[in-house]
Amino acid sequence: MTAVVTELPPSKLGTKEHWDDVYHEEISNFIDHGDEGEVWFGEDTQEKMVEWALANVPPSPDLSVLEIGSGNGALLFGLLDAGYPARCLAGLDYSSSATQLAEIVAVLRDGEKISFTTSNFLEDDPLPLPNSVSPSGGVDRWDLLLDKGTYDAIALGVKDEHGRSPAINYPSRVARLLKPGGYFLITSCNFTEDELKANFVTSETGLVYHSRIQHPTYSFGGKSGSTCASIAVQKPLPAA
Ligand SMILES: C[S@@+](CC[C@H](N)C(=O)[O-])C[C@H]1O[C@@H](n2cnc3c(N)ncnc32)[C@H](O)[C@@H]1O
Repeated sequence: MTAVVTELPPSKLGTKEHWDDVYHEEISNFIDHGDEGEVWFGEDTQEKMVEWALANVPPSPDLSVLEIGSGNGALLFGLLDAGYPARCLAGLDYSSSATQLAEIVAVLRDGEKISFTTSNFLEDDPLPLPNSVSPSGGVDRWDLLLDKGTYDAIALGVKDEHGRSPAINYPSRVARLLKPGGYFLITSCNFTEDELKANFVTSETGLVYHSRIQHPTYSFGGKSGSTCASIAVQKPLPAA
C-alpha cells in the first residue's frame, strides 16, 4: 500500500523563502528584544511532546534524537531543560536563518551545544551525532525523530507534474533513518490522527502505530475536533 498524502493546495508556508523570511525576522527580534521566537502550536503542545519523550525514550547518554525542521530549536531546548544531554540532540532545517537563530539562542544558553545543521530533509541524509550508532552501519541511527509542524509545511509545497505533493517521500525517509525499535513522534495541525496513521503506518514504511497525545478538544455545530494531532509510530525490532 502506498501512503495517502494530501490534497492540500500549495501555499507560501510550503516554500523555503517564506521560512527564510520568518527566521530572518525572528533573528532581528531576538537581537532587539531577546525574544527566542514563536513556539509553534504553543507551549502546552510542546510540553506534551517533551512529556511523551520522557515517558517513552528517557534521557540516557547514548541516545540520538533528531528534530526534522527544528526552526528556532524551541522543542530541542525543551528536551535539554527536561534533562536530555545536549550531545544527544540534533536539529536540522532547510532555512539557514532558522539554523542561525537556533545557534545564537544555544550560544546564549550555558553548557554543551545542541547540533543544528542546515539541510533539506527530503534530499540529504542528516549528519550523525558523534555518539550515534547504526546497527546496520547505515543511516538508521536515530532513537527518536521529532516533527512539530514540518510535515505540515512540506505538504503545502508545490506539487510535481503528476500532481504529487513533496510530502509523498517523507514517511519512507523517516522509516529509513530510525533504528529498529526507534520512534517517530509527529504533531500536526493540518492532518487528523487517522490521516497521520494512514500516511505513516503503511506496508511501504513498515512502521507500526504506538501511541497518541491527547490535545484539547472543541465542539462546534454538533461536531467535535482537536486543535492538533500527535501520534507516535515505531520501527519494529527484527523478529528473534
Ligand atoms: C511550522 S515550522 C516548525 C518549526 C519547529 N519545528 C517548531 O516547532 O518551532 C516548519 C519548519 O520546517 C522547516 N522545513 C520545511 N521544509 C523542510 C525541509 N524539506 N527540510 C528541512 N526543513 C524544512 C521550515 O524551515 C520550518 O522551520
